[in-house]
Amino acid sequence: MNNPRYDTLTTSNHFDSIAEVFNRIWYFSDDYKDFVINHIHRDLSLSAEDILVDLGGGTGTFTSRIQDESGVTKAYCVEPSVAMCDEAAKLKNITALCMDAHAFISTKTPFSKLLLKEVIHHIDEREHFWQAVYTRLPKKGKLLIITRPQHVAFPLFASAKTAFAHNQPPYELFESQLKACGFKVTTLKRSHSFTLRKENWYEMLRHRFMSDLSIFSDEEIEEGIREIEEVYTEESIDIIDNLIFITATK
Ligand SMILES: C[S@@+](CC[C@H](N)C(=O)[O-])C[C@H]1O[C@@H](n2cnc3c(N)ncnc32)[C@H](O)[C@@H]1O
Repeated sequence: MNNPRYDTLTTSNHFDSIAEVFNRIWYFSDDYKDFVINHIHRDLSLSAEDILVDLGGGTGTFTSRIQDESGVTKAYCVEPSVAMCDEAAKLKNITALCMDAHAFISTKTPFSKLLLKEVIHHIDEREHFWQAVYTRLPKKGKLLIITRPQHVAFPLFASAKTAFAHNQPPYELFESQLKACGFKVTTLKRSHSFTLRKENWYEMLRHRFMSDLSIFSDEEIEEGIREIEEVYTEESIDIIDNLIFITATK
């Protein structure tokens, strides 16, 4: 689909614009956070010997909690948005590096585990990137991608769902590219359900919590919210987040 609207705002610009409110608006529930973090620990088999890189780590809240709970030797939050990275730099138990995926890998910083949570669709020239990651990882080193299917169950308006599907490559592509590099790949689909007050969900939409929403004007967001209102008549919405966890081991 070639729609010029999808190119109107770059990803890093978008995340610069929501950095200040990111932690508040990108929040589903404490249970949800525990669910994701527990799986990260297990899938990456984190231990005190590891050096963890949280690539596209945003404001570093996940990086910081993982560092505390797993006791890894060192944890980096690598984040190209200056405003997001500035937030991460306030967390004293992690090291924030303001750069994108390709710039980071070319620094040759040693690491043994790599987390890519909700970021893989933003990274270009992925085949080249995987190859570089494979070279840098030690034997038995691991990476974990947490991503979503192209068709999400989120209560989004129709044109937002189309934008999301447009920006999200099929996860099978990541699997095949990783296998082609020599990684052993395991994929698990896991879902988490939670309930949000509609007002909170609409605030997330108005802040364009997902970069896919950045192409919509204020009027279009309000029109989208009216579309959602027709379907969801209660005060709260039950939401299912279908996540895909892809672990690749060298
Ligand atoms: C949806 S946020 C996810 C943040 C964090 N991983 C989390 O789950 O809370 C996506 C992040 O990826 C970053 N990003 C975008 N393009 C990137 C790239 N090429 N390399 C590394 N990070 C990138 C964005 O700036 C943003 O902070």
